[in-house]
Amino acid sequence: MNTTSLVHTAVFQKLVRHAEDARTWSLKALFADHPDRFPAMTLTAGGLFLDFSKNFLTDETMGLLIELSRQCHLEEKREALFAGDEINTSEHRAVLHTALRAPRSETVMFNGKNIIADIQSVLEKMRLFTEKVHAGEWKGYSGKPVTDIVNIGIGGSDLGPRMVCQALRPFHVKGINVHFVANVDGHDLDAILQKVNAETTLFIIASKTFTTLETMLNAHAARSWFLNYGTVRDLYRHFIAISTNTEAVARFGIPAENLFPFWDWVGGRYSVWSAIGLPVMLAIGYNHFTEFLAGAHAMDVHFRYAPLASNMPVILGLIAIWNRNFLGFSSVSIAPYLQDLFSFPNYLQQLEMESNGKQTQKNGKPVEYDSCPVIWGNIGTNGQHAYFQLLHQGTDIIPVDFITALTPHHTLPKHHAALLANCFAQSEALMRGKTAEQVRNELSAQHMDAEEMAIQIPQRTFPGNRPSNTILMNVLRPETLGALIALYEHKTFVEGVIWNINSFDQWGVELGKILAKTIQNELEGQPEQMHDSSTAGLIALAKAAMK
Ligand code: F6P
Repeated sequence: MNTTSLVHTAVFQKLVRHAEDARTWSLKALFADHPDRFPAMTLTAGGLFLDFSKNFLTDETMGLLIELSRQCHLEEKREALFAGDEINTSEHRAVLHTALRAPRSETVMFNGKNIIADIQSVLEKMRLFTEKVHAGEWKGYSGKPVTDIVNIGIGGSDLGPRMVCQALRPFHVKGINVHFVANVDGHDLDAILQKVNAETTLFIIASKTFTTLETMLNAHAARSWFLNYGTVRDLYRHFIAISTNTEAVARFGIPAENLFPFWDWVGGRYSVWSAIGLPVMLAIGYNHFTEFLAGAHAMDVHFRYAPLASNMPVILGLIAIWNRNFLGFSSVSIAPYLQDLFSFPNYLQQLEMESNGKQTQKNGKPVEYDSCPVIWGNIGTNGQHAYFQLLHQGTDIIPVDFITALTPHHTLPKHHAALLANCFAQSEALMRGKTAEQVRNELSAQHMDAEEMAIQIPQRTFPGNRPSNTILMNVLRPETLGALIALYEHKTFVEGVIWNINSFDQWGVELGKILAKTIQNELEGQPEQMHDSSTAGLIALAKAAMK
């Protein structure tokens, strides 16, 4: 297919016309007319259950979307992903994060070599190191065991391990505290350094490139801080690196034994399964980490082999395409009804927006359709008391992904019933709405006078007809979390295939980095460059304050 003309294909145009119809549909009526809608529009895979019935979908919609995916060669491109083809075309790289969670017995060939052996040998190095730390055998400079791990990294070298460590809190090994420092705002590092003891703290410098400004500044500052207590000869007991850039790690002064490598075929935002997951392994132990990998692998197998029409990541991706490109919804809210998933929306922001927030196709031509929507959100029920007002009555329709677990780790059954009740009630309310008639009846019962009622009724009416997905798991465990992350990774891939976007580069972050370097030089006294009056004015104010 000539991908530049996607919008002119028959199936795209059929979907455009179908969407005109869909805009007149009532979700409530779809449920009333089809009693089997729930079983027909739910799926199970990798320990996850997806209910996608509260979307503007019929069998015809699904059929057209599957046809669209075939038109875009989704099946062939999915195979190219797993086969290690150079699908990150602008950086000439393969994309093989799925190999990181493949079982030891599998063969994944890359450049004529089975890379599973390399992956397993790094996993083994991680295991030995983790077990030494847990057993108290990895000692700090004064002979005390490690109690605190500080991961210094940003973007994919932070968001994944941070989110997973938080999400798997009930599985944490006692006596080990894992902290994360990402921001170049010195308050971030400072707050952690005030909490930890140099004698018992291990710093992990996590950076694929080992050149990222924020990470290197924080890493050097942590090193200087450490040298207030220990000596240069003690550094090797307290500094670990995770990187693909072995030379830069050596230049920093971290010996090869303390380097946990990974490979350029692992994208930053897809790297939690690699050595970048070391803080996770330190937090939850080797066995739970392998369960996390196994959960993701189960989703990989499902994604690779399940037919498109019953393939969870494919369905989720195609619904996203339908909502974005045909119904015109420009943002998606992520609502985990699980306290420990509070960082999940942040994690998905990088995964989806850094992957698909692009306006150019892989062939260099501009996209002729909208690409990635804005991804945002917060945990339920907190979000209900903040922005759900807008979800229910705002002028934009914002689809929501509700995510929850049927069984909690705590023993507060009333809390759990309230959590689930709120989760299900929100998707029901968004879909069902509240008619003017219902409001009128309520207000009449309160004996409100007619004039007041005329003003109040529209304000208390809910339009409803707002779509959502609900993802359930039995318990939030390493394997279900692994499957959940892999589900969204593959959903992101599916969208990228339809949009003909390279989901694995991120050129859009480069310009700001370059300009920041120039401005930093100016703030530190070098001659000023040409700027617009706003930027020049802000620099002048900062310079005055920094004097
Ligand atoms: O600036 C964006 C980015 O390149 C992300 O893609 C990446 O995850 C992050 O920076 C961190 O990069 P590194 O691991 O090389 O420090």
